[in-house]
Amino acid sequence: MADRQNDSNKSSSIWGGRFSEGPSKVMERINTSIDFDKKMYSQDIRASKAHTSMLINQKIITKNDGEKIIQGLNQIYREISEGSFKFREDLEDIHMNIESRLSEIIGDAAGRLHTARSRNDQVATDFKLWVRDDLDSLDHALKIFQSVLISQSENHAATVLPGYTHLQTAQPVTLGHHLMAYVEMIGRDRGRINDCRKRMNENPLGSGALAGTSFNINRHQTTADLDFDRPTTNSLDAVSDRDFAMEYLSIASIISIHLSRLAEELVLWSSAAFKFINLPDSFSTGSSMLPQKRNPDAAELIRAKSGTIIGNLTNLFIVMKGLPLAYSKDMQEDKVPVFETSETLELTIAAMSGMIQELTFNKEKMKEAAKATHTNAIDFADWLVKNLNKPFREAHSISGRLVKLAESKDCSLEELTLSEMQDIEPKITNDALKVLELTVALDARTSFGGTAPKNVAEACKQARLKYL
Ligand code: ARG
Repeated sequence: MADRQNDSNKSSSIWGGRFSEGPSKVMERINTSIDFDKKMYSQDIRASKAHTSMLINQKIITKNDGEKIIQGLNQIYREISEGSFKFREDLEDIHMNIESRLSEIIGDAAGRLHTARSRNDQVATDFKLWVRDDLDSLDHALKIFQSVLISQSENHAATVLPGYTHLQTAQPVTLGHHLMAYVEMIGRDRGRINDCRKRMNENPLGSGALAGTSFNINRHQTTADLDFDRPTTNSLDAVSDRDFAMEYLSIASIISIHLSRLAEELVLWSSAAFKFINLPDSFSTGSSMLPQKRNPDAAELIRAKSGTIIGNLTNLFIVMKGLPLAYSKDMQEDKVPVFETSETLELTIAAMSGMIQELTFNKEKMKEAAKATHTNAIDFADWLVKNLNKPFREAHSISGRLVKLAESKDCSLEELTLSEMQDIEPKITNDALKVLELTVALDARTSFGGTAPKNVAEACKQARLKYL
């Protein structure tokens, strides 16, 4: 079994005062988080420096000790950034690794850094700073993605694409309109990022282990220093709140769902059955056996990685569910799903942006597919309503009978002769045939939010102003 480190000198130098034995190896392994939480080193150092400046100002520690601490922390920052810092598993986490190194560098003064602070408010602060930074970079990546989508939409404001419902061809739309639908989704994602950032931007530092502190600290100073909007108002809540991480993962999950839907369309559109798009060489792979293959791997992987991200949301939900107040060590596990999600999202958004930017479209194929299945039957019905004052239900039925006739003759609606049409509805005139033109039908859909090329061009203009 685990070899117990029963030499009293081996009890943790940071919290080992009341212990006579050190932890077993297995205990050390299950307890450690340094492998993943070292990602927060810059946030930890930033928060410790803010805490130190506050302790100096409040005369809780001397200026001399405080300055040594800050210089030591600056040195540690350099060591970690340059890769020369030796992380130790036995020191559990990033907070203790840094504090322990600080005492090697500056000696006794290091012991004053943790005055009026607990690792509980420390980790809540560091993690919030990390998530906040990540929300900012996520927002930036999404902005780039939107700009790529908007550019393609501008190029294809008038390109015909079959629009689907139930994955059955329904009505022609413009490709620009279709791509702009994703700009809207990403716009809402960015809105959620913004809301989350605002809501989470409260400073937990100064909440202590759970109950606050008897030292005369100034939480407003650290709040300003760390760019928080205000200090948190309840110390128990502050150290045990991980809503911001759950919100982050919820937002990430919705983003990944949006990406997976577009990814799925790219997979479909690149298949032989559709042939709407040509995947760029830079974002497709070949087959080791079949020489003709060009596979949409990047799109498939983006589609699959939503599983990782949604799984991570479930992970943290389950960790947090039923946890009593205040801090529990369970919460150390909060970082793994968040960090993995961040890396996964960054990669998938970059891959999707790259793919969309380089995608080329087979306009002819798309147009053919839009024409193939009487997608203009609705335009005919609308013509009957507008010109013959038919109630829509009757117009729908007349149009349906024309579709049936065209189907029996294996031709398109516009290939029916006027007299064939008049057999079904005698008042039909040649005028009706004009609205069957694909481009006429598309141009006509100018209702606000509709697919007409004119609308798409305007939507792109507005989106540039709103999002970029
Ligand atoms: N590594 C810990 C975490 O990430 C830091 C907080 C530890 N607090 C404690 N009371 N043991 O949650």
